[in-house]
Amino acid sequence: MKTIGVFDSGVGGLSVLRALLAELPGQRFVYAADGGHAPYGERTPEFVSQRTHLVTQHLRETYAIDALVVACNTATALAIDDLRLQYPHMPIVGVEPALKPAAALSRNGRIGVLATRGTLGSARVAALRDRLVATSPRPLHFRFQPCDGLAGAIERHDTAAIETLSARYVHELLHAGVSGDEEPIDTVVLGCTHYPFAADLLGELSGPGVMLVETGVPVARRTREVLGLPAPEEGMTPASTTLLSTGDPLALADAAHRWLGLRVDAHALAV
Ligand code: DGL
Repeated sequence: MKTIGVFDSGVGGLSVLRALLAELPGQRFVYAADGGHAPYGERTPEFVSQRTHLVTQHLRETYAIDALVVACNTATALAIDDLRLQYPHMPIVGVEPALKPAAALSRNGRIGVLATRGTLGSARVAALRDRLVATSPRPLHFRFQPCDGLAGAIERHDTAAIETLSARYVHELLHAGVSGDEEPIDTVVLGCTHYPFAADLLGELSGPGVMLVETGVPVARRTREVLGLPAPEEGMTPASTTLLSTGDPLALADAAHRWLGLRVDAHALAV
């Protein structure tokens, strides 16, 4: 049995944990939410990198994790390179906005990306976009929309703020400054692991012609491959989960129950 650390600024990484639990039954997961310091999206790169290192060190020392899934686009964009340098022998799987799958899915090559300011301003995501545009056999057009406050609203389970901010950012992304003769965006990437928990609303606001793309399932598959574990089969023992939060453990346990149907206590994490 492998022990796999899963880390996010808060509850968003539960969208990745959901896919991991399905893909890797029989394994042990330790989910660490840095809820006491969320959201990360509008913090400095130094802050995000420092928090990512501290939580990772704790997961290694206390839980002897065999692998780490950085279930946060912002932390992946800003800290994963350093983390891999520091732990060269530990498999580390990150989460990046699904620009490539979106480019494959889009009918007209016009793709919108909803993510945090930190993710969209990172050199890593800019390089990913530029590489795809340069190597695509057809023109690709990416439009980036930073969503200040949206991850925080999902973190607090603040329905009114989620509705207001989602409406604002979907409008900005799909309609602001778009002339009538321009082809509309037909694919929207949910580039923050919190956003799948607002996917129904974001999909409704985007309209029926728009496909939403998220990353939980491919990240879970990649984690299984990296660990050399077999594909899931009927009848395998369910995975076990430990939940930890530097913020409010009850809020994390509630979110895990609401979204994943997990009934697990969450514990305070002091780092
Ligand atoms: N869920 C994270 C992400 O994927 C971070 C959101 C935040 O803390 O701002 O980017």
